This record gives sequence, C-alpha cells and structure tokens, in this order.
Amino acid sequence: MDKIKLGGSDLDASRIVLGCMRIAGMTDDALHRHISTAMEAGINIFDHADIYGGGECEHKFGKALKSGIKREDILIQSKCAIRNSTPEGDKSGEYYDLSKSHILDSVDGILERLDTEYLDLLMLHRPDALMEPEEIAEAFDRLQESGKVRHFGLSNFNARQFDFVQKYVDQKLITNQIQFGVAAPHMINSNMQTNTPFEGAANRDGGMLDYARLNDVTIQAWSPFHYGYFDGIVMDDPKYKTLNEVMEQVGEAHGVTKNAIAVAWILRHPANMQTIIGTTNTDRLSQIMKAPDVSLSREEWYQIYKAAGHMLP
Ligand SMILES: NC(=O)c1ccc[n+]([C@@H]2O[C@H](COP(=O)([O-])OP(=O)(O)OC[C@H]3O[C@@H](n4cnc5c(N)ncnc54)[C@H](OP(=O)(O)O)[C@@H]3O)[C@@H](O)[C@H]2O)c1
Repeated sequence: MDKIKLGGSDLDASRIVLGCMRIAGMTDDALHRHISTAMEAGINIFDHADIYGGGECEHKFGKALKSGIKREDILIQSKCAIRNSTPEGDKSGEYYDLSKSHILDSVDGILERLDTEYLDLLMLHRPDALMEPEEIAEAFDRLQESGKVRHFGLSNFNARQFDFVQKYVDQKLITNQIQFGVAAPHMINSNMQTNTPFEGAANRDGGMLDYARLNDVTIQAWSPFHYGYFDGIVMDDPKYKTLNEVMEQVGEAHGVTKNAIAVAWILRHPANMQTIIGTTNTDRLSQIMKAPDVSLSREEWYQIYKAAGHMLP
C-alpha cells in the first residue's frame, strides 16, 4: 500500500489506519492476529484515544505490542480532551478539557497504558469551548521537548478553529479527524451544493476539505461505514438498499467486496485522505485492505454517491 507523508511531515503513513476504539473486548490472541494481518496488508498506523474502552483499548494494544511488534515499525496516534467519558456512553459527567495540565496528564496516562516512550502523533479530540490556545501551545512545547510526542494534530475542528489553534502553536498541525464516508459526505455536499436552498448546502466544517488541501493537512476520515452519528452501518441496511446493490456491482467489476468499495470511494478523493477503519473482524479487515488497489472511475464514484441518496443540484 502506498504511504503518504502526514501533513507534509516526516511521518510516512498508510492510507488506511486501524482504529482501535472497539478492541477492548478482543482476546489477546485475536488482537495480535488482527494487528499482524493489518501490518502484513500494509497498515503501519494505529489510532487511539485515552477514552476508548475507558483506557482498556490502549492497555490491550500496549500488551499486544510486546509480542514481537517493533515499536519503530509502526506509528501510534492518540487523542485527549474528553473527561469522564464512560465506555457505556453515559454522558452525564462528561466535559471537555484542553487546559495545559489536562493535556500533559493525559499524555502521561496514554504512554503508560500503551507502555511506550512516545506518541508519533497527539490529537486534540474535540474543541473545548473554554480552550485557551496559549495553554495548548505551552503543553505542546513541553511534550515535544521531552520527546513524549513527535507531532500534533486536531480532531473534529472546523477550518476556522484550525487556524485559531495554529496561530498560537509553533508545531505544524498535520491532521484533522472528521467523520466522512459515503453516507456522511457533508464536506463534499456543501461544496457541490453551494448557495442552493438544499439541505446539503449546510457548511458544517467551515470548508475543512479545501482548507486541508490548501494548507497540507491530512484529513483522517473516521467511521467510514456509518450513517448519521453512530446511527448504524450502511452495509446490508435496508435503508441503503440501492447503495448496497451499486457497491456490490462495482465491487464485482473490480474483484473486491463492497466493504472495500466503501473505503475505495473515500481514497479516490484527490485530497489524499486517510480512512480509519474500526472493524474487529479479521476477515473483514482483509477484504477492506483491497481498497487501495481499486481505482474508481469518476462515473463509478458519482454513481455510488447518488446511490447513497445524495443529489446533484
Ligand atoms: N475522532 C473522533 O471523534 C472519532 C470518532 C469515532 C471513531 N474514531 C476512530 O475511527 C475508528 C473507526 O470508527 P468506527 O469503528 O466507528 O468505524 P467503522 O469502520 O465505520 O465501523 C466499524 C464497526 O462497524 C461494524 N461493521 C458491521 N458490518 C460491517 C461491515 N460490513 N464492514 C465494516 N464494518 C462493519 C464493525 O463490526 P466488526 O468489528 O464485527 O467488523 C465495527 O463495529 C475508530 O476505531 C476510532 O479510532 C474517531
């Protein structure tokens, strides 16, 4: 699989990232097999957050690393900002915290759970309404100087907020994680429906896609198979019957499954986005890993887009 330089940095990363949000329930053996399969297929980058599984995902991954995977062969990224999140999704005590002390404490916890000396990339998980960018800048400097974090990025920030944080921090922000997929293509809907009265014209991200291309920021598309906000997976969902049929047809033409087509659809976009996949099923993972070999024609790409229910004005 081709690698890209993340946000123009020296991090050479695969276009597919293995998301580790759902690994808490895997056995150690299954996880080891899963990571090995991912690496054999070309994945070299793994996505975490301090809150995934209440910390258990990082802990499990750290243990898996000790079974023969060389730290320097992979890139590990993690995120912080969300406090009092529970694995069960109870949001009653949750809040966001991008204070200097919380960022520094979070990284110490992340490194301990992952049992590693450094993160290749730290991202701020969500914008904190009370964030003070000077504090973020001080935290980033400390983390970089101590060697605990090599590079920095954001997650779920819009283009304007991206500029806002970038103005204060010395390190180039190289990535932004945003939900994106065939059933959640808001970033491109708003571009193609500009100034129309249609719902798709709503600009929810401040033009992040164009911002990323203009400023050499890598977009990492999360939850690529989902629709809504974790409302479900498009695969085999009767609400997405036409989409499933079209992805199957296109998949047959390219000799891959529709799982690979859904990811190939994201990779076909010339912004060179990465796709963070979250499957814990190793067979599915192997199917999805065929995506980078598929080059969808423009006609196929639009056919899939429209089959998901999106319109062209
Ligand atoms: N920055 C953020 O705010 C943010 C938010 C959410 C996620 N993320 C990152 O993005 C990663 C991916 O998120 P996600 O897990 O929601 O993404 P996803 O890849 O869209 O969804 C994976 C989930 O869908 C299930 N699934 C069922 N049928 C499937 C099929 N045919 N093909 C593929 N998956 C199928 C998987 O089950 P099986 O395990 O049985 O395959 C798994 O539970 C996370 O691990 C995390 O690293 C970041």
